[in-house]
Amino acid sequence: MSAERIDLSCELSGIRLGNPTVLASGILGTSADLMERAAQSGVGGVTAKSCGPEKRAGHINPVAVEWDGGVINAIGLTNPGVEEEVHLLREAKQRLTTMGVPLFASIFAPTVAEFAQVAAVISRGEPDLIEINISCPNVGDEFGTPFAGSPETAAQVTAAVKAATHIPISVKLAPNVPNIARIAHAVVEAGADAITAINTMPGLIIDPMAGQPVLANRVGGLSGWSLKPVALRCVAEIRRAVDVPIIGTGGVANGLDAAEMIMAGADAVGVGTAVWQRGPQVFALICEELRAFMEEAGYPNLQAMKGVALR
Ligand SMILES: Cc1cc2nc3c(=O)[nH]c(=O)nc-3n(C[C@H](O)[C@H](O)[C@H](O)COP(=O)(O)O)c2cc1C
Repeated sequence: MSAERIDLSCELSGIRLGNPTVLASGILGTSADLMERAAQSGVGGVTAKSCGPEKRAGHINPVAVEWDGGVINAIGLTNPGVEEEVHLLREAKQRLTTMGVPLFASIFAPTVAEFAQVAAVISRGEPDLIEINISCPNVGDEFGTPFAGSPETAAQVTAAVKAATHIPISVKLAPNVPNIARIAHAVVEAGADAITAINTMPGLIIDPMAGQPVLANRVGGLSGWSLKPVALRCVAEIRRAVDVPIIGTGGVANGLDAAEMIMAGADAVGVGTAVWQRGPQVFALICEELRAFMEEAGYPNLQAMKGVALR
């Protein structure tokens, strides 16, 4: 089997991706130019930065710091508000469509009703999929416990959004819950077409010289390679519980990481922190490395590799 013959295409709720790499929300997804750049770099799908009902400035600096295990961030959901985001999505969609790359919006809101309102408005931007961010860990003091924290609240948001849009939805889950399989099951019952797993893991990093946390927000979300085993465990538990497509996200930086995520049951792989570390060319590099691995291991396509570690 030659590397060129390996088929990296996949499908998420009727949306075809040329390869399984997906730009994770919050990285490069803040302008049409940056999203176009990701598409030019060989990404399979692009997720925009999460947007909410109103414009938000986010937290004060420092909001993101690299550490030994990856990155810790508390950006604070900086966004232009949903009305402005619709323009941004329309522009991005036009450019990405010509390249055959699907565009995913991402939304958050402080209440169930506002989630539905934001979903209805964002649908005017005609994204191919809407990711429902019920799991951002950095704004707990402003929004209370994330909706991803219980099956009941996660399902309420899912059902409200599903009723407000005709566009497929993927619900983004949090790792810091007692039973992620139950939450996955609840959101699928409530109408989720796909699941994105996972968002960052809440953490605290202290600068011993300064005697204080490194982030102005004190706590933040851990991402990057320290998150990978947590993400793999979550994806595996979700895959055992439900049949919908999973965008496995957390610590994927190379082709082998992507293979592991697919072996845990993911259909596609989100890539965030590694874009900082390896540059936007990370998507093409991951595909090249994944192809080489699949050729050597004898997997002709992603379907043949999906979930093999669960058997
Ligand atoms: C700087 C930064 C900003 C992020 N912003 C968002 C966001 O707006 N919405 C969201 O759903 N996830 C956001 N995330 C989480 C990522 O989409 C992803 O779930 C997480 O970082 C794990 O993937 P990674 O290890 O590949 O970075 C952000 C992550 C980082 C590092």
